[in-house]
Amino acid sequence: MRVYCEADYDHVSRVAANIIAAQIMMKPDCVLGLATGSTPIGTYGQLIRRYREGDLDFSQVHSINLDEYRGLSPENDQSYRYFMNKHLFDSVNIDKKNTFVPDGVEEDREKACRDYDGIIRSHGGIDMQILGLGHNGHIGFNEPDSVFEKGTHCVQLTESTISANARFFASADEVPKEAYTMGIQSIMQAKKIVVIVSGESKKEIVKKAFMGPVTPQVPASVLQLHSDVILVGDKAALSEYVG
Ligand code: GLP
Repeated sequence: MRVYCEADYDHVSRVAANIIAAQIMMKPDCVLGLATGSTPIGTYGQLIRRYREGDLDFSQVHSINLDEYRGLSPENDQSYRYFMNKHLFDSVNIDKKNTFVPDGVEEDREKACRDYDGIIRSHGGIDMQILGLGHNGHIGFNEPDSVFEKGTHCVQLTESTISANARFFASADEVPKEAYTMGIQSIMQAKKIVVIVSGESKKEIVKKAFMGPVTPQVPASVLQLHSDVILVGDKAALSEYVG
C-alpha cells in the first residue's frame, strides 16, 4: 500500500485529485467508483478546478457510485445522487447518462441490487475506486460483519452510522434506516483503490483497518488484501498509523 501523509485536509484533497486526474488522463474513458460523505468533497472541488482550468476532460468518463439511501429520490437533497450532482457532476463535462448511483426509489430490493450489479458488470468493472472510511470501519455502506463475498445488497444501517449521518438531516429520525450498497466483492475487484481520510476522529479506525487483523468486524480491513491501494490522509488521521 502506498501512503501519502499530508499536512491538512486541503493537501489531502489536492493529492487525491492528482491521483484521480492522472487516471483520467491515462485512460479518458475510465470507470471511476465514486464515494460520498464529507471527506471527498474537497477532492471533487479540486477536480472541478482542474476541469475549469482546461486540464481535465470528463466527456468519456463513466462513474459508478458506491451507495444510496433506500427510499430517497434523486431530487431529495440528502440523496447521494443529489450530492454527486451538487459536488461534482453539475460542474464538469461528464455526461450524466454515464453516471450511476443505486436507484433509491426502487422498492424491490433484489431488483435494485441485481440491476446495479449488471451496470458494474456491463462496464467491465471499476478502474479506480474512491473510498471514505466510516468511524466503525464501513466502506460504502458495508457495515461491520458484512460478508466479504457479496455484490450489491440492501443493508440495515447501524445506530453508529445513523447518528454519524444525522448531522446532514433535520434529526436522526429522518435518516433512512436502509441503503443499497455496492458489495465488498465489487470494491475489491476494482483495479485501483484510493482511500481518503482526514481528521483526528478517524485515527483509531485507520489503525484498526490498516494495521489490525483482516476481519468482517472492520470491513475496511479487507483492503489489506488488495494489491493496489493508495491511502491519502492528513497527519491527524494517520497519527496512529505506522507504515
Ligand atoms: C457515509 C458513506 C460512506 C462514507 C462515510 C464516511 O456513511 N456511505 O461512503 O465513506 O459516510 O463519511 P465522512 O467522509 O463524512 O466521514
